[in-house]
Amino acid sequence: MSVDTKLKLKLIKNMKTTSLLKALTVAALFTAVAAWNAAAADGAEVWAKNCASCHGKDGKGETKMGKKAGVKDYTDAKNNEAVTDEKFLKSIKEGVKDGNKEVMKSYAEKVTDEEAKAMLAYFRTLKK
Ligand code: HEC
Repeated sequence: MSVDTKLKLKLIKNMKTTSLLKALTVAALFTAVAAWNAAAADGAEVWAKNCASCHGKDGKGETKMGKKAGVKDYTDAKNNEAVTDEKFLKSIKEGVKDGNKEVMKSYAEKVTDEEAKAMLAYFRTLKK
């Protein structure tokens, strides 16, 4: 190989590394932005949209549907604390059953994991 060819090859190699680094940086930025967006999922908003019809915006469950379904008052510390983090997330994923009867459907298709976690944080703020 001539010195010239060697030099050219080295240049190409350098260029490749540079563009790879650029691509990686862009990819990392995208990931960071996506994670930031997810972290910013608004628990109150997701709750209001999916859960408030029964549980009420305030978690008291004093809505028409809530009363009919017999939801508990989750502003009551005793009821709120009885729902562990695990239970809360599981209820969203799998729904809630009373014996064999499904009293709350699964929201696995409608709510992302990040939104579920944001709602959990919101749920805790409802406690009086
Ligand atoms: C159609 C009415 C309805 C909707 C809408 C609804 N739920 Fe429920 N949910 C219930 C009923 C009924 C229960 C059982 C009684 C109770 O524990 O309050 C329940 C129970 C729960 C529990 C307690 C589960 C347990 O094991 O103690 C959690 C947590 C919960 N819901 C969260 C949510 C979240 C989050 C949403 C929205 C994504 C939601 N619910 C939407 C009716 C509903």
